[in-house]
Amino acid sequence: MEIRIVGTGSYLPEKRLTNADLERMVQTDDEWIVSRTGIKERRIAAPDQTTSDMGFEACRRAVDAAGIDASELSAIIVATSTPDYVFPSTASLIERRLGAHRAFCFDISSACTGFVAAMELGYSIMLGNADFKHVLVCGAERLSGIVDWTDRGTCVLFGDGAGAVLLSKTDEGNAKCLLASDIHADGEHAEMLCLPSSGCKKPPWKEPADSHEFYIHMAGRETFKRAVVAMAEAARNVVKKDDVDLVIPHQANARIIQAVATRLELPDEKVFMNIAKYGNTSAASIGICLDEAIRSGRVGKGDVVLTASFGSGLTWGALLLRL
Ligand code: ACO
Repeated sequence: MEIRIVGTGSYLPEKRLTNADLERMVQTDDEWIVSRTGIKERRIAAPDQTTSDMGFEACRRAVDAAGIDASELSAIIVATSTPDYVFPSTASLIERRLGAHRAFCFDISSACTGFVAAMELGYSIMLGNADFKHVLVCGAERLSGIVDWTDRGTCVLFGDGAGAVLLSKTDEGNAKCLLASDIHADGEHAEMLCLPSSGCKKPPWKEPADSHEFYIHMAGRETFKRAVVAMAEAARNVVKKDDVDLVIPHQANARIIQAVATRLELPDEKVFMNIAKYGNTSAASIGICLDEAIRSGRVGKGDVVLTASFGSGLTWGALLLRL
């Protein structure tokens, strides 16, 4: 019995926020944003659209692509830093809408490394529990609600969206999808990327309404340097003997991706990038890329995909996947 990726799905909200739009909001310009980040536009959720709404759409598409009934799902794991609630979990809200009434549900908080961590976790619980046949892994974010739209250093970077992968047990030979993994955290620098007023340490209800503590705080340059080193090292740790058909890095900054690719001596055509269209969607980005790469035919069954990510925690990791 092996575990395979049998379906993927993604969802991006309709509203596009272009660099030209941002020029009217903060002191920035298209040339700066494109040359420093590679981002041209990002998607923004509708005012009443939540993370579970976007996650549900991505999950529904992954389940449809696999051709199973949602009632067969054993578990749903959602990686997100922007859950609808602290509890109940975003996964439970998605379960209800999918009609996946037999699925165990939980969220994980691992920021931009969330998708990599959730895939590792989904795979592990399937190995550990014979009854778990189909596990849905989703990364979904509504970052537009935690971005300080007056801070040009962060507001140009982020976008909303969701991506999902369905893992299923199969009798097919040579079908193992997780060939290798390498995941890490370094709590020493936990607050380098932080949402200060979001929990019991700095309760939002005690903050003045005009506080900036409700928004993403980030030491950009330091994060950049650490992301390059950590993603390249984790990727190197999982690529030992298999040839890689496509690399899907977390889409945080095109320059981070290029620097990682240079360290790994990867040609441009092997590196997937859609950051120009969506910006950094944190835990959603790798799932969105994987779905786009599969649906566009860039990769298919049997191909080997390397993913790598870095985010708040600090957390980072890489997975070597066979589709
Ligand atoms: N437009 C114009 N100028 C700007 C902008 C902007 N949008 N933002 C910053 N600047 C200015 C700065 O004020 C600074 O000006 P100064 O030299 O006069 O002080 C200058 O540009 C350079 O600023 P830096 O911060 O040094 O620019 P850098 O090249 O480092 O790029 C960036 C900034 C894009 C944020 C980069 O550091 C980065 O991508 N960091 C990593 C982000 C990341 O990966 N985050 C992780 C995921 S987030 C999560 O986990 C939730």
